[in-house]
Amino acid sequence: MPTNTAAWLVSAKSQLEVGPAPYTPPAANQVVVANRAVSVNPVDWMLQLVGHVIFPWIKPPFVLGTDVAGEVVEIGSAVTRFGVGDRVIGLAVGTDKDCNDAAEGAFQLFTVLLEKMTAPIPASLGFSEAVVLPLAAATAACGLFQKDHLALQYPSAAPAAPAAIGSTLLIWGGSTSVGSNAIQLAVAAGYNVVTTASPRNFDYVTNLGASQVFDYNSSSAVSDVRAALAGKTLAGVLAIGHGSAGLCADVLKGLTGSAGNRFISTASVDARFERLADSQSGPLALPRTMLRIVGSVASFRIKCLLRGIRTKAIFATSLKANEVGSVIFEQFLPEALASGRYVAAPAPRVFGHGLQSIQSALDAQRGGVSTRKVVVTL
Ligand SMILES: NC(=O)c1ccc[n+]([C@@H]2O[C@H](COP(=O)([O-])OP(=O)(O)OC[C@H]3O[C@@H](n4cnc5c(N)ncnc54)[C@H](OP(=O)(O)O)[C@@H]3O)[C@@H](O)[C@H]2O)c1
Repeated sequence: MPTNTAAWLVSAKSQLEVGPAPYTPPAANQVVVANRAVSVNPVDWMLQLVGHVIFPWIKPPFVLGTDVAGEVVEIGSAVTRFGVGDRVIGLAVGTDKDCNDAAEGAFQLFTVLLEKMTAPIPASLGFSEAVVLPLAAATAACGLFQKDHLALQYPSAAPAAPAAIGSTLLIWGGSTSVGSNAIQLAVAAGYNVVTTASPRNFDYVTNLGASQVFDYNSSSAVSDVRAALAGKTLAGVLAIGHGSAGLCADVLKGLTGSAGNRFISTASVDARFERLADSQSGPLALPRTMLRIVGSVASFRIKCLLRGIRTKAIFATSLKANEVGSVIFEQFLPEALASGRYVAAPAPRVFGHGLQSIQSALDAQRGGVSTRKVVVTL
């Protein structure tokens, strides 16, 4: 049996510590992957800082992390799509409430993955390039395709031309990791995408397929986006980034002459959790942050109710329990990646090698990135 090692969250808010971990064989519908690269997402450092409050079922010692790329070393008895030695990416769902299993976290040498949340990668794609995808693509797919969110048509390797569907989607925050995937998925599903980014990233989002892009930092952002959507059939709105949900509700408030889906699927919580990492922040900082979140969610929901807007928050791992998970990881991504129609974006910023680099990678992600995914090779 292989010897495993993990970067452990040993107690709430502690720094990760590298140490021995059990090797867990797969259940019938799982594979075990020897990780060659993992990537870091905002949720990882959020769970480190406030997991005991927002995901209270996680009891340290625990292994965080959602994104892995590596080679399959063992398969469960019911697995049909993979064999030992296959190169794959996968969404590790260990922190999910109904999973709650350190063996299924990313930040270790061997991770147990659901077959359904695993996709083969082509030889042309390196592990550190491919590992940018799982959580970002899953989050985007939940918002775009789940029946309880925007319920768009599924992406296809040969998408209908946007004009054939005639619907325009607003993706606020197109230059985020989630947005980079949302743009590509929406275009592959045949939709026209209007998005926002900082001007330095306008070319980046248009190269991914957005047809129009506006600067979200501008004081005229809401009216600029509203003007771009006027008269179009709205497929819905995906709001990504701090403050994005309220701004998207403001876009829809004044939007006249547009038919379609007045639905905002929200990816982000309106909270600056990164400030809680500051040792000077004091004992009241966390309760204050939580109160602010409750207030901002309540005022956003009231705003939406008064404006006839439906809304729902994304929980990225929810797609493991519905057909969107299979659509993305089994059907769409393998073919789209192999054909080169879908690119692994944003590009990795390989931060270091080895489990001991993961803590500083978390700190770097928390410090802010632009069109880069923080990656650690293993
Ligand atoms: N609900 C879920 O299950 C789930 C899952 C994954 C992620 N998320 C959330 O989704 C958000 C994006 O995550 P990510 O990993 O994609 O982030 P990321 O790649 O770290 O995002 C970095 C980008 O954010 C953009 N940005 C910064 N402030 C913004 C704002 N106020 N509005 C719009 N864009 C802004 C910047 O764009 P420019 O450089 O162009 O300025 C930057 O490129 C985070 O809030 C994260 O917590 C939620």
